[in-house]
Amino acid sequence: MNIQQQVQLRPFNTLNLDAIASHYVKIHSTDDVVDAIHFAQTQQLNILILSGGSNMLLPQQLHALVMHMDIQGIEFLAEDELTKTIKVGAGQVWHDFVLWTTDQQLYGLQNLALIPGLVGASPVQNIGAYGVEVGEFIESVDVYDRHLNQFTTIQMEDCDFAYRHSIFKTNPNRYVISHVVFKLLKTPDLKMNYGDLKTAMMDELTAKNLQEQVIRIRQSKLPDPQEFPNVGSFFKNPIISEHDLQKIMIDAPSIPHYPQNHGCVKIAAGWLIDQSGWKGKKLAQVGMFDKQALVLVNYADATLKEVQATYHAVQHDVFKKFNILLEPEPVLFNEVGLIQSHLS
Ligand code: EPU
Repeated sequence: MNIQQQVQLRPFNTLNLDAIASHYVKIHSTDDVVDAIHFAQTQQLNILILSGGSNMLLPQQLHALVMHMDIQGIEFLAEDELTKTIKVGAGQVWHDFVLWTTDQQLYGLQNLALIPGLVGASPVQNIGAYGVEVGEFIESVDVYDRHLNQFTTIQMEDCDFAYRHSIFKTNPNRYVISHVVFKLLKTPDLKMNYGDLKTAMMDELTAKNLQEQVIRIRQSKLPDPQEFPNVGSFFKNPIISEHDLQKIMIDAPSIPHYPQNHGCVKIAAGWLIDQSGWKGKKLAQVGMFDKQALVLVNYADATLKEVQATYHAVQHDVFKKFNILLEPEPVLFNEVGLIQSHLS
């Protein structure tokens, strides 16, 4: 295990924020997980788990041990008539893994192509796109439990998956995910009833074509982080009551909305931001993307403070117009590597 000091994390976070970590280690195995946790304990450092860096907001100075997950490997575990079960290392690149499943004629994840990040982060916020959430295809998650000080397996039923939510999100410092076990289908069950996919043109409806359409749609709307550093959707789509929706619809009848359980509706944060005049608008070097107002872009070398100034201004304007407080999606860290509420 090679612990490095004063490491620049800019190449490892897709918003390209300048952030220096006091301590940094690359994790290649479960043994490394144990050694790194032991090191952090002896040095009295908090641990920050870094995966693909595509959903985090980092301060400029970080006094903590950054564990950069790089556990590789794909292993077939079991098979029945309908499904195959595979165990995947947390450090595998998500998109490459999705492409691999399609090549292996394993189905379920095609709608989630091109989501940035690594496999180990996928259960944390239960990544989802085009009517599919990863939790539907996870059988279990292998973790090191820092409360119990041992490796354990969490079954899907206990993961508490919901929209952009899981137990890994509610207990941010407890689990280090080493592997994710997926149960994928052997015959395609193609989901294409969500938004843009409904109208997508395909010569023939196959899993590979569906995956290609998803890639095409995402590329046409979402900025490439290499060119325009970003963390994907910056805000969650708010879930409000049917009653509150009716009030908004008096002035804005075209508001996109999707029915949920218990008389609630999910509304499109991108539309709210767009209607509040923020599509393509910048404050200093940070702005909302001109083709998709839900994506915040760092156009130059912004610091976390500048990013915060922009998203606070967006929240303010949306609240003023619609009386809705948008909740940021990326995780905010403080100077000692702990997760901080966006409201503090
Ligand atoms: N809209 C506007 N103006 C905009 C952006 C969107 O009017 O600038 C409208 C669109 O016309 C559409 C609605 O808002 O009617 C929703 O937009 P869209 O379908 O583009 O996506 P979304 O609901 O805003 C969610 C996920 C994305 C995921 C897409 C596709 C969240 C927060 N975001 O976005 O996830 O790719 O659906 O399923 O749930 C991510 O999490 O990083 C991400 C990209």
